[in-house]
Amino acid sequence: MTPDLLEEGARRLEKRASPPTGLNNTESGGRNASTGRIATPGEVDVSHGRILYLEDVSVSFDGFKAINKLSLDIAPGELRCIIGPNGAGKTTMMDIITGKTRPNEGTVFFGSTIDLLRHKESEIAQLGIGRKFQKPTVFEQLTVYENLELALKTHKGVKASMFFRLDSVQSDRLAEILVTIQLAGSVNRLAGNLSHGQKQWLEIGMLLMQDPKLLLLDEPVAGMTDEETARTAELFLTLKGKHSLMVVEHDMSFIRTISEIVTVLCDGSVLAQGTLDQVQADERVIEVYLGR
Ligand SMILES: Nc1ncnc2c1ncn2[C@@H]1O[C@H](COP(=O)(O)OP(=O)(O)OP(=O)(O)O)[C@@H](O)[C@H]1O
Ligand SMILES: [Mg+2]
Repeated sequence: MTPDLLEEGARRLEKRASPPTGLNNTESGGRNASTGRIATPGEVDVSHGRILYLEDVSVSFDGFKAINKLSLDIAPGELRCIIGPNGAGKTTMMDIITGKTRPNEGTVFFGSTIDLLRHKESEIAQLGIGRKFQKPTVFEQLTVYENLELALKTHKGVKASMFFRLDSVQSDRLAEILVTIQLAGSVNRLAGNLSHGQKQWLEIGMLLMQDPKLLLLDEPVAGMTDEETARTAELFLTLKGKHSLMVVEHDMSFIRTISEIVTVLCDGSVLAQGTLDQVQADERVIEVYLGR
């Protein structure tokens, strides 16, 4: 991390109380004490102004440091954009947050009490972190409605899913999500017949059925038409506030439409952070993009 970012980070930390850092001084090293304090299961404690907190996270693959002392945090309801050249570690960072990859060192907290490094991938999804991979993974032989319904069943681990019926709250949510993802007119269409963009929205809808607190979206507009990209920007802006979002994208005009704070990753750590204009004017950022 660069000195100015460190200073900025220090200022932000000073402003907010900092339980995860402080917790590391406890006898338990923070972990046992922290998970033991979840007051209400399913609740994420964001009273310290963060829904996601990474500190000094590193991971190596065969000696190559894909993530290198990465620190960043995200506020509740924030829509954070992550950019960076190929191989910067953006997807690997999402793998770490979702429990797919275990870091060699560092701290990863969901809210101020949930230590994600103590949880399995399936538990992390249940805790309220939804992830959208680049390729759409909808069930092509099922209708839009059935896909959304199934997302709820699988998430809730409903065993007798044949007899599963949505309750009225869930039906209302499904109807609301159909409107949000602009597929209300396509409820009975087979997912396989949707356009690439519509499949991506359906998959986002499937994540929304699980009511995630944090959504991680890896290159969501790759392969979309300009119109689909514009609609996706609208969709993300409506989700902001209700959910926290971390969006990785290479499409800068899309980032310009949706972004507040943009974090630039390079060589596994934060190279710069600020508005898109600020980071695009940063010499170091220009260099890493031009240099590759
Ligand atoms: N499981 C793995 N084993 C070995 N190397 C890996 C593994 N996962 C990622 N890497 C390496 O880690 C580095 C970071 O990869 P990552 O996929 O996170 O980059 P990225 O920022 O998502 O890039 P892109 O913009 O191309 O998607 C790359 O050099 C990649 O080859
Ligand atoms: Mg990637």
